Amino acid sequence: MSGLDAPSIALVGAGAMGGALVRGWIEAVRKGGGLTLTVVEPHFDPILERDLDAVGAVLNPPEPGPVDMIVLAVKPQTFPSTVEATRKFVGPGTRVMSIMAGIPIESVQRALGVQRVIRCVPNTPARIGRGVTAYVCAAECTAEDRQLVEQLLEPLGTVEPIAAERLMDVVTAVSGSGPAYVFLLAEVLAAAAEQEGLDRDTAMRLASRTVAGAGALMLETGETAGELRKQVTSPGGTTEAALDVLGGNGGLAPLLRHAVSAAAARSRELGRG
Ligand SMILES: NC(=O)c1ccc[n+]([C@@H]2O[C@H](COP(=O)([O-])OP(=O)(O)OC[C@H]3O[C@@H](n4cnc5c(N)ncnc54)[C@H](OP(=O)(O)O)[C@@H]3O)[C@@H](O)[C@H]2O)c1
Repeated sequence: MSGLDAPSIALVGAGAMGGALVRGWIEAVRKGGGLTLTVVEPHFDPILERDLDAVGAVLNPPEPGPVDMIVLAVKPQTFPSTVEATRKFVGPGTRVMSIMAGIPIESVQRALGVQRVIRCVPNTPARIGRGVTAYVCAAECTAEDRQLVEQLLEPLGTVEPIAAERLMDVVTAVSGSGPAYVFLLAEVLAAAAEQEGLDRDTAMRLASRTVAGAGALMLETGETAGELRKQVTSPGGTTEAALDVLGGNGGLAPLLRHAVSAAAARSRELGRG
């Protein structure tokens, strides 16, 4: 890992997302990346704990000291109870990267007394390194802070800088919540297949492999969703018959427009709370 020379990182919360991050950092340390790790977590996964020990990470230190970057990966509702302990990692040069859903930059700045805060929205495919994480930096952040954040987010998949924090509600509604829309698509496709006569297990296998395969095809060919859709759609064929229904009034486009708008509104509401 380049950027800051041997940055010190304190991860608070090594659950699903924090665990995915730190597993990637362990690999970076093994490959000789200059990185010193401290992890605070009440219930370590035993394999993760062993791997962290093996790279010399400090776990649940009784007397924490300042680090270059604090990474907050606890649940948003847990955050208030972690503030006092997390403040012990704060020094004059400390930045904070938060992946907590819905917590504005200003709330983190106020709680920890740190100005250089980066807010990130990952999504669940991050657990297998195939996610997309959007991030936005406080005005006080430097180019070096951005570089370090992008390097630290690498284990989760690709990274997208976002220009303004107000757009994080839309990001949450699209990529943050988006995997659930795709899983629902697989579920309802399977249910429709079952209604047409397939048994439940076959229907679910066909639907989930179709969703997974279509996603992989889009990623691996680099062709756009629109191009790939046209390739499957012959004039007067079966796909066109289905797309006429999905593209009609009350079809997929207005429905998703409504869904994304509802999710963004809820994200704004939670942010105010
Ligand atoms: N999963 C997603 O799709 C997703 C997407 C975008 C953003 N996020 C955000 O990512 C964050 C983490 O989500 P997650 O799914 O990884 O949650 P998670 O699996 O519950 O991880 C949170 C971890 O923090 C630990 N923890 C609890 N209290 C703590 C404390 N006082 N100090 C240190 N660690 C503590 C928890 O331990 P215990 O389990 O023992 O309590 C748990 O291991 C959340 O803020 C969420 O909003 C998640």
